[in-house]
Amino acid sequence: MRRSRSVYRAAAIDEPRLVEGYEACRRAIRRAGGTEYPTARLMPPALRPALWAIYATGRVIDDVADTGDPSGREALFDAWTTAFDEDLRRGDSEDPVRRALVHTMLTWDLPTDGLSAAFAATRADIAGRTHPTWKAWSTYSQAVNTSFFAQGAALLAAAGLYLPLRLRYLDAARQWVDALSVIDNLEDLAEDLAQGRVTVPVEVLTDHGLTAADLTGGTHDAPVEAMIGHLAAQARLWLAQPDLFRELPPALAVVARAVTDIGRLRLERVERAGAQLLHGKPRLPRLASRRILLPARLKAHVAWRFLTPIGPARSRRDTATPHPPTLAALLPAPRTELPTPPRPHPSGARPPSCPTRRLPRHVAVVMDGNGRWATDRGLPRTEGHRAGGESMRDVVHGALEIGLRYLTLYAFSTENWRRRPEEIDGLLALVREDMVDAAVLDHDVRFRWAGSAEGLPQDVLERLVRLEHATRDRTGLTLTLCVNYGGRIELTQAAASLARAAVAGRIDPAHICERVFAAHLALPDLPDVDLLWRTGGEQRTSNLLPWHAAYAELHFSDTRWPDVDRRDLWRAITAYADRGRNFGAVPDSAAPAAGPPAHDAGAPGH
Ligand code: FPP
Repeated sequence: MRRSRSVYRAAAIDEPRLVEGYEACRRAIRRAGGTEYPTARLMPPALRPALWAIYATGRVIDDVADTGDPSGREALFDAWTTAFDEDLRRGDSEDPVRRALVHTMLTWDLPTDGLSAAFAATRADIAGRTHPTWKAWSTYSQAVNTSFFAQGAALLAAAGLYLPLRLRYLDAARQWVDALSVIDNLEDLAEDLAQGRVTVPVEVLTDHGLTAADLTGGTHDAPVEAMIGHLAAQARLWLAQPDLFRELPPALAVVARAVTDIGRLRLERVERAGAQLLHGKPRLPRLASRRILLPARLKAHVAWRFLTPIGPARSRRDTATPHPPTLAALLPAPRTELPTPPRPHPSGARPPSCPTRRLPRHVAVVMDGNGRWATDRGLPRTEGHRAGGESMRDVVHGALEIGLRYLTLYAFSTENWRRRPEEIDGLLALVREDMVDAAVLDHDVRFRWAGSAEGLPQDVLERLVRLEHATRDRTGLTLTLCVNYGGRIELTQAAASLARAAVAGRIDPAHICERVFAAHLALPDLPDVDLLWRTGGEQRTSNLLPWHAAYAELHFSDTRWPDVDRRDLWRAITAYADRGRNFGAVPDSAAPAAGPPAHDAGAPGH
């Protein structure tokens, strides 16, 4: 207790009942012997009690979910979470852990969606679900763990620490969280099996010729060892995310690196235990973990003090300070309802028949002419953009109808910040409204955003992220909306990322080729643009996807974008299909609409 006194002073907690509640949380996570307690010590004292309360809640609901028979567990679990909801409304609790959690939620004015998602995911697992595939396993692991991370991120945000949300690192963040879950699962193998729970994805068991019963029976040591080795290797790979840590504020990077180093140590122990994991949890070597944690505490102390200072609790209702996006923005589950077919064009027009092999795979569009369209009609320019939004919806439906795989639309460039504030506000308002959602959500469209987060209002950013997340499992048209996008910035950032990798010794400059460069772009999986179409009578590409569009066929049409509909897209595609593409080769030697040269094939002809 004496050691915690300075912590409670820093967190401005002096009421004995509250201290009692937080001490119960601290003891619960310390007793559990996991990594939560030592890693909480890497955080600033003012935040530590709140973290104890959040972590202890995780432990308590896990314990409740593991106690007694399944139906009894569900009743106990519901009683705990319902009591928490009531306590939160009352602002106090008789239960010490809930009292601390209620105090944390109210002091830092935290949103409850992270906790609710974690409660829901844990409850759904009480009956002992099996995960057929890695994907199913990861969905569950993310639902529980990302929810707790999101709660932590919300706490940091409330303390004024903005965690920049960059989409290109989100997959890395998910993998890192998955790595920690695999380690937890491996360490808890014996305990879970004793509860009748098999956390290893069935596809991994099958790959090693095992069944769940083999694990419970504790036989088949050799394949079990092989499977554990495979899982540990996978976790080790997912743990290594140096680019992700570079994105974090310095003090958090210290914490994340320490958690990663401890993770590697845990993996060593897991591998050494091998099939013994079926019978008990491996212990973390004290000395080796101290060797990681002691210097990390020193570094974290200096970093929190001088590089990443945090503020006192700040109300989310304080609208003067924008509420930053956190991982909580990712919580809504992906849309699983069957998408509805595209709406037909009012004229009844149908897409031209075009053999699939002649269709462009990726069409990128500069939607130009909105301003002139509006000015010609005596309307403010923003009305041109609004009308342009309607054209955009129609073109998306036309792309679905003709079976296009990738459509990229240039909605807002980094140069557009030079326009008058009311026009900028008008353009951003279109993203804020349901314009994009309406074009995307009900249909088989996977939405992606290309652009820079810097300068974009938080709610716009959060909207784009949510839409990406909600549609991430769709397999039809991939619609990339460029918002705050600049091609040169994209290339510059890729070059900077490569330079960092080279300086860190992760890449040999002699091995940098086109494929490696492309892997450092913000959307490395976006295919090359086959057709770049600009409306409005101008003939420029205006900094749109310079890397991807290097070999694009160009198509210019005079129609101003608000007068465009899907039939113009089909015309552009038909014109493309009629052209021969040779990518610098002699025409006879290349089939029309063949692919571009392999990325490393040397300089193209022109
Ligand atoms: C260029 O026309 C067009 C833009 C800068 C914006 C394009 C945006 C839309 C079509 C709306 C997108 C909708 C959503 C929901 C994001 P311009 O303004 O430069 O026209 P001008 O050349 O005639 O002046």
